[in-house]
Amino acid sequence: MKHVSRRNFVKAVAATSALSSVPSSHAFSLSNDEIRVGFVGCGGRAGEHLGVFSKMNGVKIAGLCDPDSGKVAAAKEKFGPNAKGFADLRAMIDDKQIDAVVIAACNHWHCLAAIWAMQAGKDVYVEKPLSHSQWEGKQTIAAARKYNRICQVGTQQRSDPMQAEIKKFLHEEKALGTILSARVNRYGVRESIGLRTSPLTIDPKVDYNLWLGPAQDKPIFRNNLHYDWHWDWNTGSGEMGNWGVHVLDDLRNNVFLDKVTLPKRIFGGGGRVAWKDAGETPNVHFVYFDTGSIPVVIGLTNLPAAPGSNKSPSCPGPGSGYIAYCEGGRYEGQRGRGAAYDKEGKLVKNFSGNSGGTLHQKNFLDAVRKRDRTILNTDVQVGHDSTGWCNLANIAYRTGKSFSIEHAHGVDVKEWKSLVGEMEQLMKAHSLTMENANLKLGPMLTIDPKTEQFIGSDSEQANQMLKREYRAPFVVPETV
Ligand SMILES: NC(=O)c1ccc[n+]([C@@H]2O[C@H](COP(=O)([O-])OP(=O)(O)OC[C@H]3O[C@@H](n4cnc5c(N)ncnc54)[C@H](O)[C@@H]3O)[C@@H](O)[C@H]2O)c1
Repeated sequence: MKHVSRRNFVKAVAATSALSSVPSSHAFSLSNDEIRVGFVGCGGRAGEHLGVFSKMNGVKIAGLCDPDSGKVAAAKEKFGPNAKGFADLRAMIDDKQIDAVVIAACNHWHCLAAIWAMQAGKDVYVEKPLSHSQWEGKQTIAAARKYNRICQVGTQQRSDPMQAEIKKFLHEEKALGTILSARVNRYGVRESIGLRTSPLTIDPKVDYNLWLGPAQDKPIFRNNLHYDWHWDWNTGSGEMGNWGVHVLDDLRNNVFLDKVTLPKRIFGGGGRVAWKDAGETPNVHFVYFDTGSIPVVIGLTNLPAAPGSNKSPSCPGPGSGYIAYCEGGRYEGQRGRGAAYDKEGKLVKNFSGNSGGTLHQKNFLDAVRKRDRTILNTDVQVGHDSTGWCNLANIAYRTGKSFSIEHAHGVDVKEWKSLVGEMEQLMKAHSLTMENANLKLGPMLTIDPKTEQFIGSDSEQANQMLKREYRAPFVVPETV
């Protein structure tokens, strides 16, 4: 089996050299060396990556892998007529004609695919969220360091040059004074994913065993296999690990200068309300993060402002972004732009950027060529920390019991109270109440950011959710 041969490869290398200097299958000694890239996943996001990488100088689209042969055929036709097609990522990873892989498969595959690739000496660009559960993210960092690989996580906004200007404005110039609190939003309307009466029949073009990989083999009652896996805990991480990770990553970057790896305490609730479908992840999710310095809250909703509307409910600041409330005003940031206002609400400064797309892929290739992970804009550790906020926010929700307003008001933080108030209004607009909408609210959970474990009350159940159950042989190794 391919995996065994790769392990033997690693053992052979370990026997002859220090593992920290495992050679790549390609030396990249010259800055203009061609980098042969393989794609794990040929779905929606991979199409965007293929569009970018195929225009980069010195890049060859060498491999296209997806257990859905229809996706491989379509990607080959559009981007890689000479690329090798694969159903099984282990075969592509073992191919010595491939130097680096871009992982844009479903979330449940990210870490295992990245670890296998790095064990085989490939550099990795892995999409956000880095991990599907927190433990496997740590294993991925360990693999990157052990095999001395470049590993970039796909939070591309980090590569937007605007972020440096924002950090200078907020922290060096202290133009708005001290930052006091922060509010993060992702208010984006989505639709229900259907509820079938009989399990979904898998298209014969899909090798379902490979599609499932580490996930449990359970019947699927949604209408579509692809994309809507986001809303099933078995394969996805909900909106928190989808858009949430982008906005929380921006917050960690610009407001915390990455100094807060994980929050110290977390409290949150939400629910999948108004829809009767096969999805499990919340379509309204509200969380308070005690960072040890300023309080942070995040509100997510996929519901429209009212039934039948296609508009999101209103919220303070950008619908996909964050607000840093400061002594002297506020800063509002979002993908590609930002604005600072004084205390009277007068615009002080606009920031204009791009989404970081193209630049993030280029940043990865630069690091691969220079063999220098320190120039990465989202090194695996940074991606792990931002993903961690999302993983913990999902645990805060999943450990919840029925919602009670008294329990919610136990957190005496202004931004949290106004977020809960907004959620009450949203429920009302959908003819629901916080009590009858089937919402959950978790206990206040305490985390030790060093060990990345929950401690104290309610920690036992929460700790169990830090690591998933893997479906053999698709198991993230204990020792990478
Ligand atoms: N950075 C961004 O802005 C951004 C944008 C969109 C999506 N994403 C991320 O990209 C990833 C993919 O999202 P998507 O929208 O393309 O989803 P998608 O469902 O369209 O595509 C996922 C693809 O992965 C394939 N796949 C499943 N198992 C595989 C395996 N073992 N080997 C290879 N391929 C496998 C599926 O068959 C599918 O074609 C997600 O993790 C998502 O969070 C990032």
